[in-house]
Amino acid sequence: MATTQSSAPSAQSELISFSVNGRSVDVTVPGSRRLSRVLREDLGLTGTKVGCDAGDCGACTILLDGEPVCACLVAAGQASGREVTTVEGLNARSPVHDRLQTSFLAHGAAQCGACTPGMLVAATALLERNPSPTEHEVLDAIGGVLCRCTGYRKIISAIMEVDAVKKQFSPQAGQAVRARLVRLDGQKKVDGTEIFGADEIPADSVAVRAIRCPHHRARFQFGDIQAFVAAHPGILLVLTADDVPGTDCYGVIPRFADQPVFAHAEARYRGEAVAAIAGETEAIEALDLRDFPMQWQELPPLKTIDDALAADASQIHPHREGNVLVRGRVVSGNIEQALADADAVVESEYETGFVEHAYIEPEAGFARRVGDSLEIQACTQSPYMDRADIAKLLGIAPGKVRILPTAVGGGFGSKLDLSVQPFIALAAWKLNRPARMVYSRAESIISTTKRHPARMKLCAGATRDGKLTALDFSADFNTGAYSSWGPTVAGRVPVHASGPYRVPNYRALTRAVHTNIVPAGAFRGFGVPQAAIAVEQVYDDLADKVGMDRLEFRILNALEHDTPTVTGQVLGEGVGIRACFEALRARWAAARAEAADFNAQAPGPLRRGVGVAGMWYGCGNTSLPNPSTVRIGLRRDGRIALHQGAVDIGQGSNTIVTQICADALGAPVAHFDLISGDTAITPDCGKTSASRQTFVTGKAAYLAGTQLREEILKRAGACKCGNLEFADGSITVVEDGARKKLDLGAIPLDEHGYVITSEATFDPPITPLDENGQGNPYAVYGFGAHMAEIEVDIELGTVRVLKVTAAHDVGRAINPTLIEGQIEGGVAQGLGMALMEEFFPGKGENLHDYLIPSAGDVPPVESILIEDASSIGPYGAKGIGEQAVIPTAPAILNAIHDAVGVRIHKIPATPDRVRAAIVAKTEEVSHG
Ligand code: FES
Ligand code: FES
Repeated sequence: MATTQSSAPSAQSELISFSVNGRSVDVTVPGSRRLSRVLREDLGLTGTKVGCDAGDCGACTILLDGEPVCACLVAAGQASGREVTTVEGLNARSPVHDRLQTSFLAHGAAQCGACTPGMLVAATALLERNPSPTEHEVLDAIGGVLCRCTGYRKIISAIMEVDAVKKQFSPQAGQAVRARLVRLDGQKKVDGTEIFGADEIPADSVAVRAIRCPHHRARFQFGDIQAFVAAHPGILLVLTADDVPGTDCYGVIPRFADQPVFAHAEARYRGEAVAAIAGETEAIEALDLRDFPMQWQELPPLKTIDDALAADASQIHPHREGNVLVRGRVVSGNIEQALADADAVVESEYETGFVEHAYIEPEAGFARRVGDSLEIQACTQSPYMDRADIAKLLGIAPGKVRILPTAVGGGFGSKLDLSVQPFIALAAWKLNRPARMVYSRAESIISTTKRHPARMKLCAGATRDGKLTALDFSADFNTGAYSSWGPTVAGRVPVHASGPYRVPNYRALTRAVHTNIVPAGAFRGFGVPQAAIAVEQVYDDLADKVGMDRLEFRILNALEHDTPTVTGQVLGEGVGIRACFEALRARWAAARAEAADFNAQAPGPLRRGVGVAGMWYGCGNTSLPNPSTVRIGLRRDGRIALHQGAVDIGQGSNTIVTQICADALGAPVAHFDLISGDTAITPDCGKTSASRQTFVTGKAAYLAGTQLREEILKRAGACKCGNLEFADGSITVVEDGARKKLDLGAIPLDEHGYVITSEATFDPPITPLDENGQGNPYAVYGFGAHMAEIEVDIELGTVRVLKVTAAHDVGRAINPTLIEGQIEGGVAQGLGMALMEEFFPGKGENLHDYLIPSAGDVPPVESILIEDASSIGPYGAKGIGEQAVIPTAPAILNAIHDAVGVRIHKIPATPDRVRAAIVAKTEEVSHG
């Protein structure tokens, strides 16, 4: 809206001298500047990460005179004359660090890598003074560093087993699938050189800050913006809705797109951007945003589902009647008759709250205008979707936008949606200077998507011998102010609410309801974890009612290869749920007996319980096209360039897709050069979500690898059964003992610059659902079952999880270490969801009040991998990322019921709620 050229204000600076990684440095900065900023921005040591700037996450842990401290809480002046060690300096400082790095890689202790530098610093400090720490000592040492990906167990093992690391290997040709291959992008994560969204500051870049609505709903008016700009040297530009040159409407599902970059006259949620200010970095940082000229007129918000559905409720979006964004429906059989005929019926209601993704890396990136094109380098899970929306907002062709994803410090679904991208795109476009934006933790929490709160009602029926006959399920999801992934949640839940069981009579109805709250979106499981919380508890009650063991009840009703799902789909193969439950049988009996023994010994206020829950999850989009395309090129030097656009957000797709492609081609993994993510040079592999990358992109990589292999054999005049031997600069085809060398130098390069290029697309075979939700929504499902052993303190209401045993049917375990990492991380998130995590919009917008599990909260996890292969997936593989989180919370909640006989109907089961339920039950008993 307004631009001016002026110099940035100068700040009060002083000369500060200290030692960093054994080198003396002098910096001239304000003494109050955070040491984390000095290290990252003034000294370029970006291995030290920033997740909160408040001492809550530990990502910025460094050594100050040998002691671990949070660099964000140390003023630069306090470092004067002292010795600082960052992750980049650990190797030179301590011989143990090299082994620790190797151990982290071998154990799979680094997933996204955002917490890894802090973990390594804390662990090195521990091992320097105590080479053989106990688990308790390790937990103490890393207790202040949060990890959202790993569930901590592999980190703990990596530290405790630092001297027991086996030599790393690189598998031979044809032996990559099922190998515990160290992640191919791991080294950068453990040496601090991985580049995340905030880690690059282009020369001459401007900074961008958003003005956000402080109310849940408000009308607004701007004052004199020109005067504001003129009064603030260094401020170059203020952007508002008038400055969006293209169509000011974006969203992850184009049909439901409804979100403007900046609110138009009325802000629909607290945290919605109404303007953005761009300028020189110091000027932007010095701004007090309260000085920005605008007036707010607070309006009554619709905060809850009830508010929004009330007959007299205002309309948040005029064209969405009754504030219902979308409905979902799956119906089969005759639900009323089946419930009337059932020998046992259980009815119940459950409610879950908002859950924050709380990845350690807040959203960040920069944009740069290049002529009539725009480049964005930022953290994202979905580069091609970003490209389409940014092009639409700018009013230019998608081909004029290039997305270069950085490493992603955790996503779990929220980084599928745009965050910083529109703001930096507009600023860079208008100023023709690179524009950079880094969300604070508070900004990340107030403005990015959450897990949908759910309000669920259900009624299930069974025969007296335990056969499930009916489930009537309905749920409303608070989808917030904009659509985001609300349609996906409302559509996916009805398909999955039955759980992995044969339910012949079924009705599942859902609604996604708009409120004046930050949009709810994708979060590991797309609503299925919420449904599982309700349904798996009701199934437990039903098993009790018919007098059956709760695990045997599930085994009896488990889907089989030839039984139809609730959408009428008969999978015919790859249905490993019964095997998952059966794998728990012996452990279930032992754990139940152990808990009973414990409880019989009058253990004061402690009571133990054991719970079980099952899950299923369709891999990929629900009844929608879902293609991935992979291109591989054979280079003159005999190496293979693998262009795959699947963004690795820590789950390991860079490694897994390569393993699959390597075996399909018949080349060693070590011969591959990975080219990932960049929309200018990698084909579209879709978004990283819905457990689709191993399955869909992996299958495309399998096909591309197979094609290239066949083409090489054809050019050598060999049959398909020939073998390939890769060496530097040549390939030898071996057939019936004869060897023929392919002269790569003699083959002209193709349009891609390769000797031979192979490209393949895979789109899973699905069918549309009819008006009753009948059809084949997914080609492949993952299955799993978790067993939780817990201890409740009946006086305090606290719950401690002692162990989780997790059996998962993954089809084919392409990389068991990475799969275990997904399971352990999923268990930790499920535990958080069950016991502690609830976001209250407008309150606790930080990682101090919003609690996620720390190392001491997460129990040992035993992973059991079942391989009921799918003939559709690559080598039979299915996804695991979303699956892993689903059964943990209901297993824990069932275990609480097992221990103390109460159901917690509002999740999470915080100590106050557990205690209140115990008191209520005690009173009920005492009143007869
Ligand atoms: S960034 Fe310092 S503790 Fe989070
Ligand atoms: S690996 Fe720890 S936060 Fe991602």
